[in-house]
Amino acid sequence: MFELKERDGLARICELTTPHGTVTTPVLLPVVNPNYLTITPKEMKDRLGVQMVITNSYIIRGTEALRERAESKGVHELLGFDGPVMTDSGTFQDHVYGDVKVGHREIVMFQSAIGSDIGTILDVFSEPEFTREEAKEAVDETLRRAKESVPLRGEMLLAGTVQGGIYPDLRELCAREISALDCGVHPIGGVVPLLENYRFKDVAEVIIASKKGLDPSRPVHLFGAGHPMMFPLAVLLGCDMFDSASYAKYAREDRLMYPTGTRFLGDLHDLACHCPACVRTSVQELKQMPRSDRTKLLAEHNLHVSLAEIRSVKNAIHEGSIWEMAEMRARAHPALLDALRALRKHKEYLEQFEPTSRRGAFFYCGPESYHRPTVARYQERYFARYRRPSAKVLVGFEEGEKPYSRAYAKEIAAVSQKTDAAFLVASFFGPAPLELDEFYPIAQSVIPKEFDAEVREGMNEVMERHAHSHGYPLAVMWEGEETLRFLSDMVPGTASGRDPDIARCRAVLDMQFGKGAGDVLDGRKVEIVKSERTGKIRNVIIDGVHALSMRAADGRFSPRLEGGRMLKEHLPPPRMRVKIEDEPAEFAAKGNNVFAKFVLDCDPEIRPGDDVLVVNTRDELVAVGRALMNREEMLAFKRGISVRVKDSSE
Ligand code: GUN
Ligand code: ZN
Repeated sequence: MFELKERDGLARICELTTPHGTVTTPVLLPVVNPNYLTITPKEMKDRLGVQMVITNSYIIRGTEALRERAESKGVHELLGFDGPVMTDSGTFQDHVYGDVKVGHREIVMFQSAIGSDIGTILDVFSEPEFTREEAKEAVDETLRRAKESVPLRGEMLLAGTVQGGIYPDLRELCAREISALDCGVHPIGGVVPLLENYRFKDVAEVIIASKKGLDPSRPVHLFGAGHPMMFPLAVLLGCDMFDSASYAKYAREDRLMYPTGTRFLGDLHDLACHCPACVRTSVQELKQMPRSDRTKLLAEHNLHVSLAEIRSVKNAIHEGSIWEMAEMRARAHPALLDALRALRKHKEYLEQFEPTSRRGAFFYCGPESYHRPTVARYQERYFARYRRPSAKVLVGFEEGEKPYSRAYAKEIAAVSQKTDAAFLVASFFGPAPLELDEFYPIAQSVIPKEFDAEVREGMNEVMERHAHSHGYPLAVMWEGEETLRFLSDMVPGTASGRDPDIARCRAVLDMQFGKGAGDVLDGRKVEIVKSERTGKIRNVIIDGVHALSMRAADGRFSPRLEGGRMLKEHLPPPRMRVKIEDEPAEFAAKGNNVFAKFVLDCDPEIRPGDDVLVVNTRDELVAVGRALMNREEMLAFKRGISVRVKDSSE
């Protein structure tokens, strides 16, 4: 069982339940070689906080003493580890040595017999240099073996590996077909040669293609990615599990892993690490130690650092900064930067999982930040949903301090005395009308005062598009007093009595719920309650009922049930709706959260974090709340909450 707890885009914190307990993902499984225990699994658990380990059933089976012990006492007893154990099948040995002689059924039955929690099929390793035909054969044979393995899994969760070489269509096809089988985990295989050769861009392409085909409710394991340098990017793209043999392998070669790359012990002036293995020793002491002691300490360091990076990744998911983390870490190696840059081609896919707002601000880390899905979404929604006020002229300002309405208050007041103008900032995100200056991510962003050329170019292109489509009779950029004189000559008059608060509500409603949602305010008595401290809109009372609350954190509306009712009339089905079975709808009506398994359908435009309408099969509104998932996820997950209910009918 796999349950979503928190998420940031495709990155997610989940609970994976196995016969030997539940682990929290993203998780790193140290590889345990039962012939060669650098650090014992018990030490890993007690001293390093390791949740789950992975070992190789092919090696166990091929070593008489290990095999007997595993068959009589089980793999947990063999390793001295009472937490979940995953086993691999021999595919990798076949890739390295090419002489694996075990049947695919046999090895799955063996893994089940020794009590493995997650056993892996004997997939066919698809090499990066494979031709299409060869890769297709590997996929077909992997799928055939997977199908024949399912009935043999017993209590064990089956890991059905995605293969397909570097062919995105084959990866997606393999992923789709293997997802249809009763598998508990989906590793992405065949990537070790790519990782070894720093072909991170290809790895990213392989992950994305695989994720597109995979059932989103299944955990994804990136086979053989044991370097912490890779974790943030892989998690950003939806990987949940990693295994590391590298911690021990690197240690044997006197190499230390860091989130920012690898260093030879001989090249270091200082260990520059606070892990328990490093604080007790120095570069000099390490160099003079007997080899086996040194290897053990370096292995511990490597593992500590890797586990710590996984913990940092979890923090980033929790605070909504996984993009920032991946962008910062991409500086560890130019090949990682290439991988990061390759993501801009996949914005449309990634956008589907991107939350509508986050806990933290959008934090600029470099020109790549401009290509995050959040930026593209803002622009797309602006052009599709925003409706301009009926002013005679548009006055534009340069990007500046936030919120813009405060930063440009003086100029706005001066212009408004001379003419009927609307205001907009040529912002980092695109055209930002004054009414949207508190809407996420416009205000909740930290960006430099000077932009990189690439960003400037992007911003100019968007403003160019805006210039052709804004629809105002006249538009000017603010250039001081001169602009004021020009406006009083060209379009004399005064603001036509538009209420800026109502304009803000309309704009936010349209952007948040779709074009037309703002009409909910038309022909009604609208009262606005503001925060005394901040002056920001807090509540909107429509015809005497508290219909909407505006969140201070993201400038978006959290509708009350009454507000949901009113909005529903302006939003034809399936807009903003999550349709659930009638019986659970009665629970939701009492204020209970909506579980994914009860969702019958939902608006494909719903994104995580959206405020949604929960309806029953007759399209009757029972509750309003915030979605934790998009449509594809709501329909796939069998466990966990899909909508956190905020207000309900009973
Ligand atoms: N370990 C590293 N890569 C692979 C792979 O592609 N398949 C399996 N089963 N194990 C691996
Ligand atoms: Zn250390």
